[in-house]
Amino acid sequence: MKVFVTRALPEEALRRVREVADVEVWPEEMPPPRETLLQKVADVDGLLCLLTDKIDAALLDAAPGLRVVSQMAVGYDNIDVAACTARGIPVGNTPGVLTETTADLAFALLLTTARRIVEADAFTRSGKWQTWSPMLLTGQEVHHATLGIVGMGRIGYEMARRGRGFEMPILYAGSPNPAAERDFGVRRVDLDTLLSLSDFVSLHTALTPHTTHLIGADHLARMKPTGILINTARGPVVDQVALVAALQAGQIAGAGLDVYEVEPLPPDDPLLRLDNVILLPHIGSASIATRTKMAVLAAENLVAGLEGRPLPHPVNAVNH
Ligand code: GLV
Repeated sequence: MKVFVTRALPEEALRRVREVADVEVWPEEMPPPRETLLQKVADVDGLLCLLTDKIDAALLDAAPGLRVVSQMAVGYDNIDVAACTARGIPVGNTPGVLTETTADLAFALLLTTARRIVEADAFTRSGKWQTWSPMLLTGQEVHHATLGIVGMGRIGYEMARRGRGFEMPILYAGSPNPAAERDFGVRRVDLDTLLSLSDFVSLHTALTPHTTHLIGADHLARMKPTGILINTARGPVVDQVALVAALQAGQIAGAGLDVYEVEPLPPDDPLLRLDNVILLPHIGSASIATRTKMAVLAAENLVAGLEGRPLPHPVNAVNH
């Protein structure tokens, strides 16, 4: 059996795949170019991919022997799952292991943006620090401020736990989550109410056609002028042009972003010229332990698919 792995992964994960298949690993820092990927999958039984790889019908057509697609990520908007299902190909992802790690990063981004940490660090290093000053680098209060969570799934739930630790009243929008209501006293409201009442709005939805540009100009206009938007979900959940306009106009106070409509962020992107945003390079789940667990889970999904067993973490239902 043959497998293509689209980037170097921890050996612990690759070892599991090597036990059952011949493994070719793409060794470069950058993802395989599209044409290369199409060639590489021509004779493989399994594909272990990342969110930087587009897995669409054309790719599946170029891979007649493909029996499993295993993605090392929880989000899988880069994969045409319906096209995989139509061909009887199971698709796996890596939920669970990255939940708390991603919530940690979202909360870090919230704190960092609110308290102007990056700006303050640059200030200290710059030699501008003359004295303790009453209003120097003052930011937004975090404790007891209202947190609005859009999407109360696994990561949203862990974000709520962190918010509770800071005694934040919490609102959420999206599908009901009785466990979060019971455990953290969060209150479900419609999106407009959430936007208008929250001091921090944190996005935790998957990217689907339904959530694309879920937050547009009208929504940003409903936020408080002191409000801060945090996005660790997927860039296209926010209309980024509208976000830049809202930030430039001072319609909202700031944004903490880990994801963008186009990644990597193009060097001429207007976000890079704003000083009321914190910009991270899509590192939500980037702890050593979590990335290793994700790679191992992806390997386990792949091996299960190669052996014709149900995947431990499937995203589609196919007949075995
Ligand atoms: C990363 O963005 C993931 O979906 O795991």
